[in-house]
Amino acid sequence: MNYIGSKRSLLPFLERHILEFSSPETNRAFFDVFAGTGAVGRHFKKLGFQVISNDIQHYSYCLNRAYIGINRPPAFCKLANFFSDSANGLPDKAIDRVLDYLNRLAGCEGFVYRNYCLGGTVGTEFPRQYFTDENGKLCDAIRLQIEKWRQDKLISDNEYFYLLASLIEAVDKVANTASVYGAFLKRIKPSAQKSLKLERLDIIPSQKKHQVYQQPGASLARSVACDILYIDPPYNQRQYATNYHVLETIARYDSPPLYGVTGLRDYEHQKSDFCYRSKALKSLESLIQNATARYIFLSYNSEGLMPEQEVISMMKRYGKAELRQAAHRRFRADVNRASRRYKADQVTEYLFCLEKLA
Ligand SMILES: C[S@@+](CC[C@H](N)C(=O)[O-])C[C@H]1O[C@@H](n2cnc3c(N)ncnc32)[C@H](O)[C@@H]1O
Repeated sequence: MNYIGSKRSLLPFLERHILEFSSPETNRAFFDVFAGTGAVGRHFKKLGFQVISNDIQHYSYCLNRAYIGINRPPAFCKLANFFSDSANGLPDKAIDRVLDYLNRLAGCEGFVYRNYCLGGTVGTEFPRQYFTDENGKLCDAIRLQIEKWRQDKLISDNEYFYLLASLIEAVDKVANTASVYGAFLKRIKPSAQKSLKLERLDIIPSQKKHQVYQQPGASLARSVACDILYIDPPYNQRQYATNYHVLETIARYDSPPLYGVTGLRDYEHQKSDFCYRSKALKSLESLIQNATARYIFLSYNSEGLMPEQEVISMMKRYGKAELRQAAHRRFRADVNRASRRYKADQVTEYLFCLEKLA
């Protein structure tokens, strides 16, 4: 998924410096406390670490429950029986049959269609077009079916989150936005005209028991035991809750009241301190102070709210601190170059490294 602040393209840089700075004998439990898409946790899971993953957003929890929490593709045993009568011409593997079944469902006019599609909102105060009508209706049908299977105890928790993660990924591919959900486009763009399609997830095999949470990071870092704490907080005023509110609602499917042109849901309890200049550094310090990890790494960049010098001075009060840097192409969510707040295409990515001394 194309996510603000995604570290997908920085993984070699992170791996190199994290492994170089931390002691190889003790670095077995890796805590990705602001996990987002889970790109960093997934990478360290592949490297053989025990991964603990956390994010305050529910869509992120679903993605991480699948990619981090599951160690082999689910078998869908109970559903396999359910499909056995009509197996003619269907794919061999249960997992593919389940995805195929969901992809072929007839659409229905549920919450997504009624609130995020033109057909469902035309003539109302706030017409919206986040998805084509067809994709909105199919998303509703799939989301409702996944929930019903869970209620009927036909799928396990792992299978439930696997399907939700696949739906979140699929929905994001056909969203009619410039990238984030702070606005939708007036015309349906070519990628949004394609049909919504659930696909298999790339599950990383592992023998370790990984943990996934959805909690405010600061309180969790106090209680979770780990060797390496990786902190990748928001860098600026843009709250993730507002930029990804549509994915949040599809993940929860809780029919919340929606507000205004963009159809925002209430996000009071998901506001991040890291989005405020006045709170960010204090929040970071309390996270570091209370963390159980010996090695702490912070990803940040040259345009973030916390000045680099203040971060490094604060870290030095807690142990040995170093700053590693890399030039990086900027994330672009807009289409209009002229109205950009940040004009440069490159930004310096920072990795602050701290070995905490007791
Ligand atoms: C820069 S993004 C992380 C990107 C991630 N490393 C990736 O590669 O996808 C920051 C994440 O922090 C989460 N977040 C913000 N405040 C939080 C908090 N107080 N506790 C937990 N997560 C928080 C946001 O929801 C967002 O997903």
